[in-house]
Amino acid sequence: MIPNEDINKIRINANIVDIISSYINLEPKGKNFFGICPFHDDHNPSMSVSSEKQIYTCFVCGASGNVFTFVQSYENTTFPDAVNIVAKKIGYNLNYKTSFNKPNKDLLAIVDLANKYYVNNLNSELGKSARKYLSKRQLSDAIIKEFNIGVALNNNLSKVLLEKEYSEKQIINAGIANKGKNLYDIFQNRITFPINNEHGDVIAFSARVYSDETTNKYINSKENLIFKKGNILFNYDKAKNEVNKTKSIIVVEGQFDAIRMYSIGIKNVVATMGTAFTKEHIKLLKKLNVKVVLLMDNDEAGIKSAISSGEELIKNNITTEVIKLSKEKDPDDYIIKNGADKFIEIIKKPISFFEYKLQYLKSDKDLNKSKDLANYINNVIAELNKSDDDILKEITINKLSEEYGVDKEVLTKQLIPKEKKIEPKKIVKKNTPRLNKYDKVSETVLFMMMKDVKYIKNYDRNLGYIPNKEYGQIANDILAFYKINGDFNIADFITYATKNSSYETVLRIINHYDEKNLDYEEFDYYIDLIKKWIKEQQINKLKNEIDNEPDINKQQELNDLLIKLKKESE
Ligand code: CTP
Ligand code: MN
Repeated sequence: MIPNEDINKIRINANIVDIISSYINLEPKGKNFFGICPFHDDHNPSMSVSSEKQIYTCFVCGASGNVFTFVQSYENTTFPDAVNIVAKKIGYNLNYKTSFNKPNKDLLAIVDLANKYYVNNLNSELGKSARKYLSKRQLSDAIIKEFNIGVALNNNLSKVLLEKEYSEKQIINAGIANKGKNLYDIFQNRITFPINNEHGDVIAFSARVYSDETTNKYINSKENLIFKKGNILFNYDKAKNEVNKTKSIIVVEGQFDAIRMYSIGIKNVVATMGTAFTKEHIKLLKKLNVKVVLLMDNDEAGIKSAISSGEELIKNNITTEVIKLSKEKDPDDYIIKNGADKFIEIIKKPISFFEYKLQYLKSDKDLNKSKDLANYINNVIAELNKSDDDILKEITINKLSEEYGVDKEVLTKQLIPKEKKIEPKKIVKKNTPRLNKYDKVSETVLFMMMKDVKYIKNYDRNLGYIPNKEYGQIANDILAFYKINGDFNIADFITYATKNSSYETVLRIINHYDEKNLDYEEFDYYIDLIKKWIKEQQINKLKNEIDNEPDINKQQELNDLLIKLKKESE
């Protein structure tokens, strides 16, 4: 168990806005921050994060909690692990080793050691020819350092790791070595580019030859527990901090392209590392909540990739644009041959994915031939039918009509009328239970208690009990929390309530009543109402007992009691 004292300290020192920002892009709006909710298929920023209350709430799916519950849900991990992750993010020294995820921890440690080893190699005497290669490719020392570029030399690393008492199996699982007759390093005589996860931990390597161009140019770490190639985008950990400024993220193919662009100040860039676009890539990009600009290699494969990636992005309601490289193979080549300024000019002028698609459709056709032209126009109409942008449809139809002399009406007829837009799958928000009068009163009392300790004291003095199991429990928890800590705040109370499973109700109350204009003067009146409720319950219980009491004398006694109770409750 992590000591409560640590948990509270970490919670207090971790600003929820900063921590959530390290996962999703948040933008200030009023006194809160908003972002795309990662807990449902969100299209608009529905998650609000309150720095005042230190809680988050999605007003669509109802996900809500404090910094720990966010990290726990997002990372799909245990509470202690979530506390650990937050501690690490704020540099809090928590001497607590989670048993959970131990294998991952070891793999991360091995990869991290390997990385340091490779970086060290590059700075050594034996790293000279690798350094020469990097300098030939015009990477500065500063950029080499920033990206932790290193070099794998001979077959040494496995031995070093074995000496550190990692097992063969662990070293193999970490993707560093393979076993033939003996254990041998996978990367040898290659420049190493560490690949980071979104939090900046090194999880794998992409390694490039630098002396012998005849072998496979790049090899990557095998996939393992911590590394799935389709789940990561190179440089995402750095780029995600840039998009608030740039409002866009640029996707390129190679890590060399990403590093080159970064080095000339275009830091909002990620690389797919040559893999096809995956659902995970889309998820990562979507979280940033900015437009995506595709900048693929200037070859057949690059065009195919831009088209298929763009289709996927558009399907996911992500604004997508494309930059075409007129000459040169890739962004790296372009910048080296034409200079940074020229490159910066061309990336200022992306075209919409729709425009790009039209150019693509035209590219293999001779529009002077009627058959090709008809084919092209039909394709364009098919594209338009995928869109629900009426203005785009109007403009495109006008253009087609003018350019190719086809009657506007004929074209318009081909458009499928917008059917009632199919609503995206409705998210069922954890529905608010039906509340009777006393429930509402109890919740208001609880809410006020959580807003001001004055009401906790008042409750303790004047009521001390709510005749509903859950509300009663929450009131007890609030009181206990206050007595232990000498104060009350909602963010820490959530941690406490999580253990008592009332936490969803607590959050519902906090979020629901916060918007209302409550009359705090009425607290005493509500307390009286609950007292009345308690009396009513006693009366009902007594009536029941009287009905079931066979003994006349006893019945009379109970009746007297009933009269007394009724008098009291008037
Ligand atoms: N790649 C890979 N495995 C390969 C080839 C390529 O993982 N066998 C990935 C690398 O991440 C590389 C990206 O795909 O950065 C793009 O590959 P390519 O276009 O071949 O890269 P180049 O631009 O030719 O490489 P460089 O600039 O380093 O010469
Ligand atoms: Mn290249």
